[in-house]
Amino acid sequence: MNAGVVELPTRRSTIRVARALGPLLEPGDLLVLSGELGAGKTFFTRALCRALGLPERVRVTSPTFTLVQEHATRPRLVHADVYRLERPDEVRDLGLDAARDDGAVVVVEWGAPFVDVLGGDALVLRWSMRPRRLALYGTGARSRALLLGLQSVLELAPAPEAPYDSAGGSGGSE
Ligand SMILES: Nc1ncnc2c1ncn2[C@@H]1O[C@H](COP(=O)(O)OP(=O)(O)O)[C@@H](O)[C@H]1O
Ligand SMILES: [Mg+2]
Repeated sequence: MNAGVVELPTRRSTIRVARALGPLLEPGDLLVLSGELGAGKTFFTRALCRALGLPERVRVTSPTFTLVQEHATRPRLVHADVYRLERPDEVRDLGLDAARDDGAVVVVEWGAPFVDVLGGDALVLRWSMRPRRLALYGTGARSRALLLGLQSVLELAPAPEAPYDSAGGSGGSE
């Protein structure tokens, strides 16, 4: 299985996905979040941080200007937002690949065009709105295993076989 879909009619349903995914994550895992502004990428990342033990009092906001924000979760979670970046070398320079090697879970908003530069084998989460829905894609062995794990907790519907959209090279193209 390399793709699945879950409906997200409520914020609570999004939190449920984050809580299902949290315990499955291991150091070095890569999550790539795609979908239009306001779709819920940051909301999901915040819920994931909570699921990984980050206290409510610690704010989790989109690192739109700082680009990278690290959280004291277990495992450590590095949250990036590459919306403003266009070239693969700009993304490479963020050092996210090294963070993965170093044991962090790396979550990248707007990262779909950069999966290869980010080290590959990403669980790609693609939001759509009206209705709110999340499609998940595994691009390698590890991310497909994550998807299988999620399947056993959530009711994932089959996703269209068409892969996530990685074309364009710019964060704005998703
Ligand atoms: N089902 C849902 N899942 C996630 N967020 C939702 C949902 N319904 C409404 N929202 C709201 O949508 C907004 C999503 O914003 P945000 O996570 O910042 O989006 P993005 O990071 O994709 O631009 C939040 O204000 C959140 O409260
Ligand atoms: Mg965001």
